[in-house]
Amino acid sequence: MSAVTNDAVIKKAAKVYQAEFGINRIYAHVLAVKNVTGKLPLGPSHAIAHKAKPFIKWVGGKRQLLKQFKELGLYPPDGFDPVRHRYFEPFVGGGAVFFDLEPEKAYLSDSNAELVTTYKVIRDDVGSLIKSLKKHRYEEKYYYKVRAQDPVSLSDVEVASRFIFLNRAGFNGMYRVNKSGKFNIPFGRHSNPLICDVENLRKVSETLQHTEIKVADYKKVLRYAQKGDFIYLDPPYYPVSKTASFTAYTAEEFLEKEQIELRDTFLELHKRGCFVMLSNSDTPFINKIYTEIKDRKINIHKIKAGRMINSDASKRGKINEVLVTNY
Ligand SMILES: C[S@@+](CC[C@H](N)C(=O)[O-])C[C@H]1O[C@@H](n2cnc3c(N)ncnc32)[C@H](O)[C@@H]1O
Repeated sequence: MSAVTNDAVIKKAAKVYQAEFGINRIYAHVLAVKNVTGKLPLGPSHAIAHKAKPFIKWVGGKRQLLKQFKELGLYPPDGFDPVRHRYFEPFVGGGAVFFDLEPEKAYLSDSNAELVTTYKVIRDDVGSLIKSLKKHRYEEKYYYKVRAQDPVSLSDVEVASRFIFLNRAGFNGMYRVNKSGKFNIPFGRHSNPLICDVENLRKVSETLQHTEIKVADYKKVLRYAQKGDFIYLDPPYYPVSKTASFTAYTAEEFLEKEQIELRDTFLELHKRGCFVMLSNSDTPFINKIYTEIKDRKINIHKIKAGRMINSDASKRGKINEVLVTNY
């Protein structure tokens, strides 16, 4: 088959998958390429049912919101061409949007070094990681022993194994470190948590094969973004109230100054010709700083999140979010 016919066949198959399975355009294209090149022996519906999903629970995970992003017609952006351009997710966390899209060319990064090491180990040495994860036990005393380990003294596989174990066995899948950078989430009350999800880890490993993964501040990575690239920004949210501040993912804070710097980065990416989509809390401050740049075709959309935002159950409330786009 000639390249031109191949392209036409891929396009047609992708359209059919989108309509038939209700999947997004980017992932539908990836599946179509695989099918046409004989890499889907069990067919598209099997691939969809066994798709990779986030391997950690992460505060602010976006899985439940994707449907609303799609319904607004904003996700993925119509003009984004995943064959010629790249996808950037510089606050990757659990990576819900990345795993939904499975773009061919992706740059994933985060400032959390242990999280990034975990992504890399899954990509490059998933067999050793699975072996190590199988050794963990869901017991309180054991949990605190593992928590007390200093990641600096561990190999990369051990760092990843400890990270996943603490996430699965700890309270609510939260990540928080104290001032000296020590992970301090207590043991969680789960009934028999799945510490080692072999099938999903192998799928995640496959999905990560063609991705670049870096520990970096978002600004550093975004220097490489070019016209036509799609950037999803999901920073630590600006707190709804002072007491609701829960965004202690790392020892660093992400308050007014950092949010304004991010807004300026958004504007710069917009000027460069990138497709930019950003999530944040629906607060007066966030609305104000993005309204200031609204004349440049930047739109603020409201999302009903219904997400719990406080680790203290008595103070939990549902918050709304904004989705800011430049398209
Ligand atoms: C809201 S979470 C992202 C959640 C993610 N979208 C998901 O679905 O799980 C924000 C992430 O930003 C990271 N982060 C915080 N400050 C950062 C910075 N300056 N540069 C890059 N990443 C940062 C945190 O480690 C955290 O993983």
